[in-house]
Amino acid sequence: MSDAMLRLAVIVGSNRTGRFAPTVTSWFVERAREHGQDVDVIDVADLELPAARGDGTAGAAVAGLGARLDRADAYVVVTPEYNHSFPAPLKHLIDLYRDEWRAKPVGFVSYGGLAGGLRAVEQLRLVFAELHAVTVRDGVSFHEAWARFDDDGRPLDEAGTTGAAKKLLDQLTWWARALRDARAARPYAA
Ligand SMILES: Cc1cc2nc3c(=O)[nH]c(=O)nc-3n(C[C@H](O)[C@H](O)[C@H](O)COP(=O)(O)O)c2cc1C
Repeated sequence: MSDAMLRLAVIVGSNRTGRFAPTVTSWFVERAREHGQDVDVIDVADLELPAARGDGTAGAAVAGLGARLDRADAYVVVTPEYNHSFPAPLKHLIDLYRDEWRAKPVGFVSYGGLAGGLRAVEQLRLVFAELHAVTVRDGVSFHEAWARFDDDGRPLDEAGTTGAAKKLLDQLTWWARALRDARAARPYAA
């Protein structure tokens, strides 16, 4: 069980026209695939989600995305920082689901101005704690992200960023295996 390939959902949290998210996401997805993960990219910019959960009118789009989230053994959220927090479309996606997040690990790749998205990440840890998810300590952060990549989308600090991604993925996969086995052994006591 523990050695079966892990399924990682990479959730992209911004949907602004002209956004920087694709540069960071492409770089990280490549690192995750090199690390051996089966990656599914869930990008809020591709989604048309309804206003709220729980009114019984969610429909196929919500169910389809829920199945993708449910299949995942672990999540990595790629998030920028907007006004010292995370983007609203990302929170909307998180709030549409509940059981899908439970007893699963969540890692973070963040970017932004001076704080590199870290204030968004710290706030997301509180949100995921409420959902019974486990957040991974180490992440990847790009401050003044637009100055950290070359024209081909490669980080200028290739060794440092690759090392940070590996640390995140090592911790995430440890938790993903442990929690997948634990969920299989007994239902989570939510
Ligand atoms: C509405 C808005 C608010 C922002 N607020 C912050 C902020 O509080 N701290 C910060 O470091 N960067 C801030 N930024 C800079 C963004 O983190 C940066 O532009 C990043 O590239 C945004 O992600 P995106 O391009 O994928 O949308 C803000 C950008 C926008 C558009």
